[in-house]
Amino acid sequence: MPLIPIEDNFNDVVSKAQRGYGISDAELAARAEVSAEDLAAVKAGQPLLPVLRRLARHLQLSPDALEVLAKKEAYPRAPLFPRGFAMFNTPHEDMTVNNYLVWDPKTRDAAIIDTGADATELLQLVSSERLRVKQILLTHSHEDHVAALPELLAATRAEVWIHENEPLERSGLRRFADNAYFHLGVIAIKCLPTPGHSPGQTTFYVQGLSRPLALCGDALFSASVGGSPTHFREQVKSTRARIFSLPKDTVIGPGHGPLTTLAHERKYNPFFAPDRLAPPPEPAAAASEGAERPATAPGRADKTRPRGNKSAGPAAFHGRRKR
Ligand SMILES: [Fe+2]
Repeated sequence: MPLIPIEDNFNDVVSKAQRGYGISDAELAARAEVSAEDLAAVKAGQPLLPVLRRLARHLQLSPDALEVLAKKEAYPRAPLFPRGFAMFNTPHEDMTVNNYLVWDPKTRDAAIIDTGADATELLQLVSSERLRVKQILLTHSHEDHVAALPELLAATRAEVWIHENEPLERSGLRRFADNAYFHLGVIAIKCLPTPGHSPGQTTFYVQGLSRPLALCGDALFSASVGGSPTHFREQVKSTRARIFSLPKDTVIGPGHGPLTTLAHERKYNPFFAPDRLAPPPEPAAAASEGAERPATAPGRADKTRPRGNKSAGPAAFHGRRKR
């Protein structure tokens, strides 16, 4: 199965932080004591590591994590869920978007988290597992996350829920408040407020499966965050407060890019990692550890992945799509 590329390159992270914190090129170059030419080269994708490290310090980014990202040394490996969880990755315009299905294997009650752009594969799984979809829960209202809503509604007639602050108008739409809960048999889903990328952007924290799971929309990507031209500080702050305080074995399901883990993001996400990191493990050592290892063979089929944890997309380390 192809690996889903990491959503943002190092230069995307630099540009996103610069834009988010409202720092001009001239200001950033002056503060970091780099030339305008070097700054332009980094933003164009040249991994000038000494320059990158200087820039990081003035953009509230971890220099070590940014360097690891530029050197493509750490690709996240999330553990598999034997039952009750499936990921879908569908193309939307010039990018791909993730959505998820969570269910209690005993009662077969299920919830869909975001719709993706094509519901075909998800509905096949609903049918083959004989699931009853109770709710469609939306992390936020951006088009790529709700594109297949009509298709899913027609097939399931499930309730559709979104945060009360999210700007989406639709008849029959239901609204939840911060920290509301949904239940599917033994599974509890808590609505954690992670605003910034959008006013009611929510992370659905799922307990009751083999590992805790945070389905976070565009609040957090592996090695990056969703963009926000107007509320970026709030975005980083709410993500740090609500997601990085979850149990350390939590698996992260972002709106774009690969599944990851909180442990991986603590180490390798430039927005949240410490300044200095231990060197990434050698591929052989990392493979034996299981959960996390650098990308050694992007695109190789993973025959151990159970049905449902499926993804599509180009087999490259980094994506070209920007959110
Ligand atoms: Fe979004």
